[in-house]
Amino acid sequence: MNQEVIIVRGNNTLAGDVQVAGAKNSALKLMAAALLGQGPSLLHNVPHISDIDIMAEVLERLGATVSREGHTLAIDTTNVDSCETPYELVSKMRASISVLGPLIGRFGEARVAMPGGCQIGARKIDMHLVGLEALGVRFEVDHGVLHATTPNGLKGAHVTLEFPSVGATENMLMASVVAEGITAIENAACEPEIEDLANMLNAMGAKVAGAGTSLIEVEGVPLSAMHPCEHTTVGDRIEAGTFLVGGALTGGPLTVHGVDPAFLPMAIMKLRAMGCDVETGEDWVRVSRTEPLTSVDIQTLPHPGFPTDLQAQFMLLAALADDVSVITENVFENRFMFAAELMRMGADIELDDHHALVRGVAQLEGAPVSSTDLRAGAALVLAGIVADGETQVHHLEHIDRGYEDYAGKLASLGADIRRVAVSALGN
Ligand code: UD1
Repeated sequence: MNQEVIIVRGNNTLAGDVQVAGAKNSALKLMAAALLGQGPSLLHNVPHISDIDIMAEVLERLGATVSREGHTLAIDTTNVDSCETPYELVSKMRASISVLGPLIGRFGEARVAMPGGCQIGARKIDMHLVGLEALGVRFEVDHGVLHATTPNGLKGAHVTLEFPSVGATENMLMASVVAEGITAIENAACEPEIEDLANMLNAMGAKVAGAGTSLIEVEGVPLSAMHPCEHTTVGDRIEAGTFLVGGALTGGPLTVHGVDPAFLPMAIMKLRAMGCDVETGEDWVRVSRTEPLTSVDIQTLPHPGFPTDLQAQFMLLAALADDVSVITENVFENRFMFAAELMRMGADIELDDHHALVRGVAQLEGAPVSSTDLRAGAALVLAGIVADGETQVHHLEHIDRGYEDYAGKLASLGADIRRVAVSALGN
């Protein structure tokens, strides 16, 4: 594979309009949900990113056909005859685990490789298992593969999650829609992507109420009552938040289109607290700033709390603020790898367990840096746009997992940015 780097020259202004893609974290689960409606479903507003390609491969391996036209995916699950997802795919993308719930719903059985550890902490799946067990699923681990069976069928149950895990809520939801009787998921995750998934499941014949709140109630229907559907993915609030940070860093005005501002309550609140002007419309958010950035304290929490997926981007803002900010990461352990790269560009950050003390500096300096994960990669490119001199961002495979044409969109907003093959870089 020909590796590429992003080269960005600093001291640019990002201004203008940008359209965000459909939400990665929604589309991946909507694709898995299509397994429950045996036949051809159409998903619109699906981003062109590599994680979607991997999920398409997961579905194809199960026997589905997946084709794309623009931002629409046609997924035909008529001939799905396997319930096995191998390690080779789960290791490429942890979200492959979200086929577990729908496979159990469709076949009463699933064989999915256990995801390993990952760079942002242990990321266990114990809550997925506890929730599904309450519905009557039995699990055995056989040579690293999780084997799920339902000896007595799927039965609705009242389950309280220990933590509002997004993945556990989704897997439970996708199995419970075809369980016999009523399921209640208490302390459910409230992310907008969960509501999007429930809306699609309902369009397929399911009876889900309360998605988007911490109590989801499901009245099970027979599998035969589930059918394919056509659904449009909600806009990506994290991509939107990333561009808004770009506008806040450089002053803007920058307008993101294609996202409901109600999906970004904390990000908008913190942008205002940092001295930005934020205006909103039905499906757009505009940021501008004329005053210096003010320091702010942020703690990540499940939605509607501040999203962990915007933590790195806001750490960058804090790095250029007038005073000291404290950023606390409560959702994932070990999600401060970005800080080390940003310090290479001149940021002043002290880490203490899951707290980061960020002392604002007047200017960052361009440097060669590496994406450590998807959001860190996106934030490093933004750092390069405001830094003095040239920044090279390596390991773009992380950015390509979740941002469609990131460099192209930033260029259209005024960045001096290009992607070049590593082999084309001088020694
Ligand atoms: C999803 C998102 C990710 C986002 C995260 C939190 C996708 C593909 N990814 O990840 O971008 O950052 O939500 O908003 O949608 N945990 C357990 N046991 C479990 C499940 C989770 O201990 O069974 C822990 C995790 O290790 C983590 C925390 O709970 O520390 C949150 O995880 P979860 O909400 O499940 O996130 P994901 O669904 O993995």
